[in-house]
Amino acid sequence: MINCVINGDSIVEMNRMPANSVDLIFADPPYWMRTEGVLKRVEGTDFDGCDDDWDKFDSLESYEKFTEDWLRACHRILKPNGSIWVIGGMQCIYTIGSIMQNVGFWLINDVIWHKKNPTPNFMGTRLNNSHETLIWATKSKTSKYTFNYKTAKELNVDSVEEKAYSNGTRKQMGSVWRFSVCSGTERLKDDEGNKLHSTQKPLEMLERIVAISSSKGDIVLDPFGGTMTTGVAAKKLGRNYIMIEQDKKYCKYGEKRLSEVVYTETPIALAQYDEKPLKVTMEEMIIAGFFFEGESFYFRNSEPIATLCSNGKLFYNGNEVDMHSCAATARGVKANRLNGFDYWYVLRNGKLTSISDIREEYRLAKQQ
Ligand SMILES: C[S@@+](CC[C@H](N)C(=O)[O-])C[C@H]1O[C@@H](n2cnc3c(N)ncnc32)[C@H](O)[C@@H]1O
Repeated sequence: MINCVINGDSIVEMNRMPANSVDLIFADPPYWMRTEGVLKRVEGTDFDGCDDDWDKFDSLESYEKFTEDWLRACHRILKPNGSIWVIGGMQCIYTIGSIMQNVGFWLINDVIWHKKNPTPNFMGTRLNNSHETLIWATKSKTSKYTFNYKTAKELNVDSVEEKAYSNGTRKQMGSVWRFSVCSGTERLKDDEGNKLHSTQKPLEMLERIVAISSSKGDIVLDPFGGTMTTGVAAKKLGRNYIMIEQDKKYCKYGEKRLSEVVYTETPIALAQYDEKPLKVTMEEMIIAGFFFEGESFYFRNSEPIATLCSNGKLFYNGNEVDMHSCAATARGVKANRLNGFDYWYVLRNGKLTSISDIREEYRLAKQQ
């Protein structure tokens, strides 16, 4: 069953699912905040934090048992090359991180969600908690997990306004992310106009996670659905979702939220930046007339160095050698091979032209 909201207990529901069946899990479990009494703002009004029943546990042992049970269930249903993200605050993330490793997950990153608009520490008794931590892990050390590296670079901006695509000029994404706490119109309200859920996560954060660590058509599961933010991100980006939530009310509003989402085909959704270029051979480019048997190969601003053979190799110093090793030898470089496409030029219309540019022309011609 995919693209559905399951109203039930996540451990029971996950234990019913087939092993190795989901590609990505995002889990935002109860943090066990241990808030006692009513939190007061400085001016005396009550602060509406998370004191929900679903966040209450009797003891560290019972929280650890619960955490181990749901993490084991996640581990079983995750595909061998799948990955999991778990978010938590300082109250729980150390417990969770330790159990994740006991269960068999392999940690690949921890990410700081630096809140642009954190809740103040009203009494001024300690630092305000202005971040939460996300742990990203794979099913095992050898998992070949999805990481859309170039898509992550495209998304490496601080504000939505900057999101026009840059064509690869942005920097590598780091492990500190800045998003605002979910507020304003993004925050779901019930029919009476009250805040529906105390811990709704920012959609932009979930979109980032889904975009960089899954592919279109993948199955994304969230065992603690809440307002269904993960499902919304998944649907918007063309992934399938399975959302589990024990509370009927959250399910009802969450389903409505999901029904209003439409898939939008964008380069980010398709992870187009990460698509591998079409593989082509020198030999086929000679047959197609993009290169010519017997033509001279040059380095930038050099005399002719080698000549092209019909099999795509270069004739150099009396031998036929592949163009990559030839580039290394002719340049006197110690490496066995250089990427010949970065070094060789041929004459076109009297001008030295990079063979890499000619290969691009051929790829384009072939795709049309
Ligand atoms: C931290 S909230 C998740 C919020 C969600 N990420 C969002 O953006 O709205 C945790 C949710 O897990 C649900 N929950 C807690 N224990 C559960 C269980 N054993 N099975 C299913 N849902 C559970 C709670 O009702 C709550 O809505």
